[in-house]
Amino acid sequence: MSKVLVISGHPDLQKSFTNTVILEELNSALSDVEIRRLDALYPDFKIDVAAEQAALVKADLVVLQFPFYWYSVPGLLKQWIDDVFSYNFAYGAEGDKLKGKDFLLSFTIGGPEEAYGPLGNNHFSIEELVKPLQQTAYLAAMNYIKPVYTHRMVYIPGVYNELEDVQGRAKEHATRLISQIEKLTNSAEVRIQKFVSEWFEQFDQLPQESEFFTNSLAEDINWVMPEGAFSGHEGFRSWYAQARESFKPGCDHDVEQLEIKATENGFQADLRIRLRAETYETSVFKGESLNLLVNEVWQIGLNDSGDILLNDYRVVPVAN
Ligand SMILES: Cc1cc2nc3c(=O)[nH]c(=O)nc-3n(C[C@H](O)[C@H](O)[C@H](O)COP(=O)(O)O)c2cc1C
Repeated sequence: MSKVLVISGHPDLQKSFTNTVILEELNSALSDVEIRRLDALYPDFKIDVAAEQAALVKADLVVLQFPFYWYSVPGLLKQWIDDVFSYNFAYGAEGDKLKGKDFLLSFTIGGPEEAYGPLGNNHFSIEELVKPLQQTAYLAAMNYIKPVYTHRMVYIPGVYNELEDVQGRAKEHATRLISQIEKLTNSAEVRIQKFVSEWFEQFDQLPQESEFFTNSLAEDINWVMPEGAFSGHEGFRSWYAQARESFKPGCDHDVEQLEIKATENGFQADLRIRLRAETYETSVFKGESLNLLVNEVWQIGLNDSGDILLNDYRVVPVAN
């Protein structure tokens, strides 16, 4: 597991109804996490830069956890960024100390979803409003991960929301955040291995809807099969329709070998798959029971949420 550092930027967690719940959930769910509560460490705003930089250097994933204040981070967290992301640490000639680390914003927002858009009171989307933080990550050569945030988190007794509703939303937020952290901190190899098993479990069932597959295919996927080459999601769907007309659901894809290596643009997986399937009388296989061995080569990228995206998928039969 990689090391996770959570910086809590709430100015007073004793008065928090939601950030405090999220931090408690993180603390009990994650084994290798350091949570730094800036309000307890620096009530006077005097940040210990050396201590904060040392914590950052050890981390693989940095999570900023905060309540959304005036369309941005609270002052205490801004002070932390100003002091800690210093010249020759986060940027500048020798400023490569954060390079390659994942950077994830996790925040609670008082206002509702519909207020954040061109027709809403707040005019801009949340993604637009957090762009200065996104660019901060880029300047520090960090990987900016899609943020996790939740609306309607303000609680003012008798005025806005019910306590149990905002705390319920805080728990849901924590669940999403924990799953994102787990996804990011599992090594790419482990994630690809898990993905391969899920992929073939679905293929064994041949569901009517193909979203599970297309969600993990690049828009311009090259899908190269013994029966021909197909391109993009449309190409995949037409191949998949043919496959569903040939194979009966409940086939068995056995992963006999799987080798994963890093490439310039992501990863390559080399697979040896044994397929046992029953076929329809009306298909080209004329009801024959199949037992085939194929080699597959997948070119894999990871999107900004850490999800797997297949760019190129080739299947070549092996002589039995
Ligand atoms: C000083 C201040 C500024 C705030 N600014 C915003 C804002 O710009 N947009 C918004 O939707 N909510 C805003 N809120 C509401 C907070 O985002 C909300 O109360 C907070 O996320 C709840 O977290 P907590 O329960 O952990 O304190 C603001 C609240 C305070 C106190």
